[in-house]
Amino acid sequence: MMRHLLSTADLSRDDALLILDTAEQLAQVSGRSIKKLPTLRGRTVVNLFFEDSTRTRISFEAAAKRLSADVINFSAKGSSVSKGESLKDTALTLQAMGADAVVIRHGASGAPHRLANWVDGSVVNAGDGTHEHPTQALLDAFTMRRRLGDLDGRRVTIVGDVLHSRVARSNVHLLHTLGAEVTLVAPPTLLPVAMGDWPCEVSYDFDAVLSKSDVVMMLRVQHERMNASYFPSAREYSRRYGLDPERLGRMPEEAIVMHPGPMNRGMEIAAEVADCARSTIVEQVTNGVTVRMAVLYLLLSGSEPAIGGNQ
Ligand code: NCD
Repeated sequence: MMRHLLSTADLSRDDALLILDTAEQLAQVSGRSIKKLPTLRGRTVVNLFFEDSTRTRISFEAAAKRLSADVINFSAKGSSVSKGESLKDTALTLQAMGADAVVIRHGASGAPHRLANWVDGSVVNAGDGTHEHPTQALLDAFTMRRRLGDLDGRRVTIVGDVLHSRVARSNVHLLHTLGAEVTLVAPPTLLPVAMGDWPCEVSYDFDAVLSKSDVVMMLRVQHERMNASYFPSAREYSRRYGLDPERLGRMPEEAIVMHPGPMNRGMEIAAEVADCARSTIVEQVTNGVTVRMAVLYLLLSGSEPAIGGNQ
């Protein structure tokens, strides 16, 4: 296992399967009344969040605590970062405090890569700008495997604001590595200009791919990253790219609906679709803890068994 988790593009098929299989083992613990394992006792995990987050921050904290690590939560607001301290000086401070792992979310694409050069511990990318969000893709793949079995040959359609989505990029690489066929659907204005090396298909027509999808993953329209108008109106966007009950009805019977959250209910996804039995949105959050446990465990103590031993 590698020292850092910065990008799903770095993961081999064996690495990815090891993380997913380890998460499957650790999921057994989540079903117990006492959910804690002693595996990372004495290790320190720092959550370093420069951008807002609900699910990812809480689930990394829960994952580290369930493995008995000491957790330090650092949010840029209220820290010396607001006094202008640089990422490098912040990193050196964490280093001086003996962090074994740093989980970082940052608005700048590439920030986790820089951090990895400055600290001795493991760095986990929890979302960097519009670049990658590897643990989200891993929890998505874990959720798909649980619902659909092996991902080889499965058709996954990812719909919406691909341009600003680190979730889409991480999923495209990981799903390709796991043998799935990915189609991205978006208006031309919400697709990156250079996608030559992305291992996926692209379509502008949601309705044309609906009936051929095993998974439909909706992306949030990321208003906070938009500095211009990318589509005529919210209504027009929903009409062409929103998942409503009528479109849900045209998906294959076994197909599932996913969304990484947070959702714009009524825009990219109708409330009744988000809450229906075929939606895995809440499951994705639960699975996020398990998958992040697997990642922290493999990075920090890969040689000891995940479960068993002196429990
Ligand atoms: C995503 C993110 O922050 O990249 N959310 C998440 O981590 N669950 C997607 C988003 O913000 O739309």
